[in-house]
Amino acid sequence: MSETIDQGLPESLFADFALDNGVRRGLPAGAYWESDFWRREQARVFDRSWVLAGFVHELTEPGQAIPTRVGGRPIVLLRNAEGDIRVFHNVCRHRCLTLVDGAQKFERGITCPYHNWTYDLNGALRATPFFGGPKQHRPADFDPKDHGLVAVRHFVWHDWIFVNLDGAAPPFADYAAEIMGRVADVDMARFHPVAMLDFGEVATNWKFLMENFMEPYHVQYVHKTTTDQPLKDHHTVVDGLCLGSAVDIAPSRTEAAAGRNSLAVTSRYLTLFPSFVLGTYAPDQMGVYLNQPVAPGVTRQKRAIYLIDGDTRPESEVAALRELWAAVHQEDHDMCVRLQSGRASPVADGGGVLSPHWEDSVRRFQELVVEAVR
Ligand SMILES: [Fe+2]
Repeated sequence: MSETIDQGLPESLFADFALDNGVRRGLPAGAYWESDFWRREQARVFDRSWVLAGFVHELTEPGQAIPTRVGGRPIVLLRNAEGDIRVFHNVCRHRCLTLVDGAQKFERGITCPYHNWTYDLNGALRATPFFGGPKQHRPADFDPKDHGLVAVRHFVWHDWIFVNLDGAAPPFADYAAEIMGRVADVDMARFHPVAMLDFGEVATNWKFLMENFMEPYHVQYVHKTTTDQPLKDHHTVVDGLCLGSAVDIAPSRTEAAAGRNSLAVTSRYLTLFPSFVLGTYAPDQMGVYLNQPVAPGVTRQKRAIYLIDGDTRPESEVAALRELWAAVHQEDHDMCVRLQSGRASPVADGGGVLSPHWEDSVRRFQELVVEAVR
């Protein structure tokens, strides 16, 4: 796949994206809006990695299907009759149009609206009406076994459905070893989803949402009313494919902030390359972002909010939590939209500069992108 995409692209196009080891400059502007770079990211980052595609808890019952895209490629997440999660490329094997066009529940099979080809919930092709002629559904040399839905390799980690499109990434437990190690003390099974925030499309490249999440430098300025987490109490996390930051808050500060709708707890802000985001907020809350690149300058984002089992806070407090996180994301989105907008300036061709202390996780993220696309 990547070979054909590479054809015709001069190497000089990518020479511009080399990172200078002396000055910590950022990626040049084109990495955020050029279509060639975008296609390379699809083929070399999103096809080859383990990527969050959706949430188990949204597939409520057998037959439930949710179409989505990973790196632009259409896939469908579904729960089969046995209750297992299955993931397929979301195209009919006949004419390759997208098969499932909205979240829905299938009672028996999935029928393509174009010529009524029908698949069961395990992807097997069950009907090809009149494909061979007026009275013949199956041509003599046509074996339906060769034309079932194409499965996508997937792995379920707690509530999160990860996919690996090219099927060649290391096993998920190896790929995600660093982030799993960093949350090994969190009993994930005790957390349950209480809310989902859907921010729709944000006018920014997916990388800006990631870079913004993993650096603590902006928090004191951008989130000055929504958080109470001093910069000095943060450290960054640069650990293999797990990049981010963490902050330790003294219990007295957490107590002092009680009653204000502001985040003042010991937290970890972790990512798994390329686009998975996990926040832990001790002792009772977690959040996960689904970041979905749509176009070079457009990313869809959702946030799932989790609380620990036995949490008895009233609905009004859950509503306050939704409001808090909606405000925090809006503050970040405002900056990420401006980061994207600024990339139209020739000044941004140089990539700006990164703090060697607070933005080393951003730096490493950008190196991982460059290593993948080169
Ligand atoms: Fe932020």
